Amino acid sequence: MTESSSENSPENSDSQDSSLENNTGPESQDAPLHRRGIKSYVIRAGRMTPAQNRGLDDVWPRFGLTIAQGRQDLDALFGRQAPRVVEIGFGMGNSLIEQAQTHPETDFIGIEVHAPGVGKLLDEVDKRGLSNLRVYREDALAVLEQCLPEGSLTTLQLFFPDPWPKKKHHKRRIVQPAFVELIRTRLMPGGTFHLATDWEAYAEWMAEVMEIAPGYANTATQETAPYVPRPTFRPLTKFEARGEKLGHGVWDLIYQRQD
Ligand SMILES: C[S@@+](CC[C@H](N)C(=O)[O-])C[C@H]1O[C@@H](n2cnc3c(N)ncnc32)[C@H](O)[C@@H]1O
Repeated sequence: MTESSSENSPENSDSQDSSLENNTGPESQDAPLHRRGIKSYVIRAGRMTPAQNRGLDDVWPRFGLTIAQGRQDLDALFGRQAPRVVEIGFGMGNSLIEQAQTHPETDFIGIEVHAPGVGKLLDEVDKRGLSNLRVYREDALAVLEQCLPEGSLTTLQLFFPDPWPKKKHHKRRIVQPAFVELIRTRLMPGGTFHLATDWEAYAEWMAEVMEIAPGYANTATQETAPYVPRPTFRPLTKFEARGEKLGHGVWDLIYQRQD
């Protein structure tokens, strides 16, 4: 994961350029990134702690999901009907764990490619005895497209996605028209797409993409539009807390599926 969007971030390294050259597939510019061979993330080797290894090895069989399982029947998966929240790119999972613990009446699905984060989340799920959380260790775009049923989600959360600040890397930003349209189809009518970033230029990019995306309405009031005040229900992540100390601003956007 990218611990900070402004420091140590993979997008600041020119070594990433080669993956952009994969953008040669037959899919049109309107297709979601994964169909065009573009990744919104970088998988980096990192040391795993014993707890993270335990999460991946011992807890995964009970809570891990794979693309190979295909389209999920979420009522069967969780054994009940409930509001359903998906978080894309949960990092080390602080926000997701806290929400799952404070909202036992809601089911949560986390999607993250970063192995230490997935391991940490699973270890916490087990330690806290949670039954309302499942996890994919896959590209979120493929999961949305192939595994999550249309109209099935109450909320989709995208908190502090990698900002890819260099212009030549903007095509790696996960927020793109095809991505937000894919999300719209997975939300139930009235469901919400919540984005947050501490990178002002990315906040503006998000607003630009979302304001012209068909089938969404911004929930912000005139005073703060296109942004909403930081919602108290969004837990503070380690990442955001560090940004706050450094004086970074944070921008939240919440859009509702209209049709
Ligand atoms: C800057 S980090 C933020 C992590 C976390 N949301 C937080 O606030 O601490 C962005 C995360 O998104 C993940 N990510 C980026 N693109 C992804 C994708 N297509 N599928 C799954 N995870 C992705 C990265 O691995 C990384 O951990």
